[in-house]
Parts: sequence; C-alpha cells; structure tokens
Amino acid sequence: MVKAVVAGASGGIGQPLSLLLKLSPYIDELALYDVVNSPGVAADLSHISTKAKVTGYLPADDGLKAALTGADVVVIPAGIPRKPGMTRDDLFNINAGIVRDLITGIALYAPSAFILIISNPVNSTVPIAAEVLKKHGVFDPKKLFGVTTLDVVRSETFTAAVVGKPDPSVFKIPVVGGHSGDTIVPLLSLSEPKVEISGSDRDALVHRIQFGGDEVVQAKEGKGSATLSMAHAGFRFVDSILKAVAGETGVVENTFVYLSGIPGGDAVKSIIPGLDFFSVPVELGPSGAVKVINVLSQVSEYEKGLLEVAYTGLAANIKKGVDFIVGAP
Ligand code: NAI
Repeated sequence: MVKAVVAGASGGIGQPLSLLLKLSPYIDELALYDVVNSPGVAADLSHISTKAKVTGYLPADDGLKAALTGADVVVIPAGIPRKPGMTRDDLFNINAGIVRDLITGIALYAPSAFILIISNPVNSTVPIAAEVLKKHGVFDPKKLFGVTTLDVVRSETFTAAVVGKPDPSVFKIPVVGGHSGDTIVPLLSLSEPKVEISGSDRDALVHRIQFGGDEVVQAKEGKGSATLSMAHAGFRFVDSILKAVAGETGVVENTFVYLSGIPGGDAVKSIIPGLDFFSVPVELGPSGAVKVINVLSQVSEYEKGLLEVAYTGLAANIKKGVDFIVGAP
C-alpha cells in the first residue's frame, strides 16, 4: 500500500500534480494538504475512477498530522512563485518558513517518507529541510530530494528543437549543479544520443535551459511561473521513485541531494569545492538513492567553465538555507 501526500496541493503546481498522481497505478492513497481549498480539490479528484483514495486536509484539527501519518512519499510544491523580474532567491523570505514548518511535520509524523521538494529556492530549501531533519534525528540523505527534473525536461525539449529531432523524449541529458539560472549546468557533451552543437548555437541552448523558467514567468505576465510543465516533471520524479520501490532496476533521475550520505557522493564532492549539496544523476532503489553517478569527471572544458560559475552561486544559496535553521554565525 503506497500513500502519497502533496503539500501545497491547491496551487498552480499542486492541482495538476495531484491529478497526475491520482492516475498513478502505484498509489493507493493520496492525501492533499494546503492552507486553502484542499478539501475541494480532493472532492473533485475523488470522482476519478482510479484506485487511489483521495482525502483533503487543512491546518485546522491537526490536518497536517492527519495528512502525513503513514505517508511513503511527500511532495512539496507549497509557497509563492516568481513574478516577472524576480529571482528564485527573492522567494526565500516566505518559502523558507513554509518549508521548515512542513518538514517539521514530516519529521514528527512521517520520518521515513521520501521527501521531494519543489518549493523554491530549491538550492536553499533542501538544505533547510536537511537541517530540520537533522535536528529531529531523522535525516536520511537517501530520501531527501530537491526536484530539478524540470531542468532535465527543458534540456530534452530545447535540445531536440535545436537538432531537429521530432521526439524530445529520446534524449538523456545530465543536468547538474543547482536549480536557478547559472547554477543549472546542462552537460550537452554527455547527451545520449550524441549531439554536435557548438559556438553560439551551444551558448544559446545552454542559456535557454538555464533561464527557460523566465520565458514562462514573462508569458504569464505576473500570474506565476511554470505549473503544468512542473507538474509533469514532479510526477515523472515520483513515478521513478515508485517504480524503484516496486523493484524496477536502473531507474535514474537527476536530483539535488546531500552528497555525503549517498554511495558515490564523496567522489563527486572531491571534484567540487566545498559543496555539500549538488544536483547529480542518482540511481534509485527501494529505499531511496542507491548511488550517485559521477558524470563530473567526463565533462568538456566548456562545461568546466559553466561549473565554476555555478559553484559560487550555489555555495551562497546553500549557506543561506543552513544558516536559516542553525543560525548565522
Ligand atoms: P501557487 O501560489 O499557485 O501555489 C502554492 C500553494 O501553496 C497555494 O495553494 C498555497 O495555498 C499553498 N501554501 C502556502 N503556504 C502553505 C503552507 N504553509 N502549507 C501548505 N500549503 C501552503 O504556486 P505554484 O506556482 O504552485 O508554485 C509553488 C512553488 O513551486 C513556488 O515556490 C515555485 O517557485 C516553485 N516552483 C519550483 C519549480 C522547480 O523546478 N522546482 C518550478 C516551478 C515552480
């Protein structure tokens, strides 16, 4: 029996993500938590004739506890999204507290659940989650994931467009680093199938993958950021986890993780200067991350340059998240 929880289920991402999860053959129970409207979203989805039993919870009457108790997977798209001109870091002041409080609930009521964090800035909210879980003595790095799948999805789509392939889903492209602007590092040199893109075409493609989120923010004219493509990406990651839990082998997703807690993570850490968290391809198994796949030793000179830029931004974002919980020195 698999119980999945969406925290932030009434939002732009939360609703379509909950719909996709309701269609999953792996999920028996789907609990929707939000500060508004979650009973309505749950009632609506509950009429769909798939097996998952859907329930909705608000904060009143210990709703967070009821939603989380018995959870196997918790996905968190709670918090405010960007408006034009904002960076993901501009969301920190509001979203940091939201994530801290939800993770505290998970530490108390669902300490062995897989935790997938969508709320931005992911580069900081994942370190926040790790510190809260550590405080409660329940941090399992193999089960805490920052969802960077949308960067991978964009890299597949945009690369296919550049090389003129009709079906982007044939591509496998590692995207490493973090999840904001130039901390996002697509490794086009490791694309499968191989692509030959160089010079200004390559620079433009990398820039589009790094800043693709801005296209959506601008097109929505102040009404938010990516929601439908993000729901797809979040679902893809949950689906991969549930496939691995069900015994499928060779399941790999790129995700922002605490490197030292996962086999193979220290090899990557020895290449990147002083960063505890990094997005890397991770093989998934029944109890979470099985191993980090070290792609960093194979990158091109050009990509080494991109990585150097990413390190600086990431170090500051990670520190900001950690300091939020442990206190700035
Ligand atoms: P939204 O504003 O449409 O929805 C957010 C939902 O969170 C709302 O329903 C709100 O009521 C709920 N919420 C607020 N405080 C809460 C709390 N304490 N507990 C439970 N629910 C709470 O925003 P949207 O567009 O769904 O985006 C959500 C987050 O996802 C944002 O931080 C956004 O930046 C991030 N995001 C992340 C992406 C990624 O690739 N990781 C991509 C796109 C967005």
